[in-house]
Amino acid sequence: MGLRLLANWKLNGSQDFYQTWFQEFNQNYHGSRYDILGLAPPSIFLNAIAKYSINPGIAVGAQNIDWLSFGERTGEISSEMVKDVGGLFAIIGHSERRTHFGETNAEISAKLDLASQASLDPILCIGESAEDRASHKTKSILEQQVVRALDGCSSLNTLTIAYEPVWAIGSGITPEPQEINSIHEMIKDVVQSRFSSIDLQAVLYGGSVNLKNSQLIFREKEIDGALVGGASLCGEDFAEIANIFNGLKGLEKL
Ligand code: PGA
Repeated sequence: MGLRLLANWKLNGSQDFYQTWFQEFNQNYHGSRYDILGLAPPSIFLNAIAKYSINPGIAVGAQNIDWLSFGERTGEISSEMVKDVGGLFAIIGHSERRTHFGETNAEISAKLDLASQASLDPILCIGESAEDRASHKTKSILEQQVVRALDGCSSLNTLTIAYEPVWAIGSGITPEPQEINSIHEMIKDVVQSRFSSIDLQAVLYGGSVNLKNSQLIFREKEIDGALVGGASLCGEDFAEIANIFNGLKGLEKL
């Protein structure tokens, strides 16, 4: 059982913010038998939060890593640096990185390899745009994103994929849970049939997951967890979402 419920704080937070967040989280989280939780804060806080998060059992990770290991890369952080400060995973290829920072499939493949070499769990994000969806291209676009990212990898052995429709991120709108379920089935088929040497550990859903909709989403069999953005900024909400997840998937603390 790898990480299943990840918080992505994006460009939010401060030292005061995360201290309050952990207080709220700890007051509301009931615990799990497994290490299922992860938190990706802005990288400047990784080191401090890695120490802070041991007690509730939350792994920390990066929202992004560079596609090179070292050198003249002003402003970047490497997979090894994330590992060095206690990080356990790296989110790779988030649609905001693809859109705002022009991240390419070749860079995404290189990042997946580097994460893997540094023993970070790579979380590959894929997702279709509103236009892709309107023209019924969702499945073909997702397949293309998976194949292009994985074809370029040479040392990837384990992987988690986060399916995040671009139109669902931060919009308050999600696909129907059954639709997500069938897309997850398709993603698993593609990876298992075309990349059998890669151990696909989980397919998470991301895009406007919140306290209200998490129950219906987590009920679906092929939805192995979630990548939560906006709703993860509230420690209490994220704890409650984690409690719902643990309850529905039978992972509660014994
Ligand atoms: P959201 O973001 O939960 O705010 O929609 C999810 C994500 O982008 O990972």
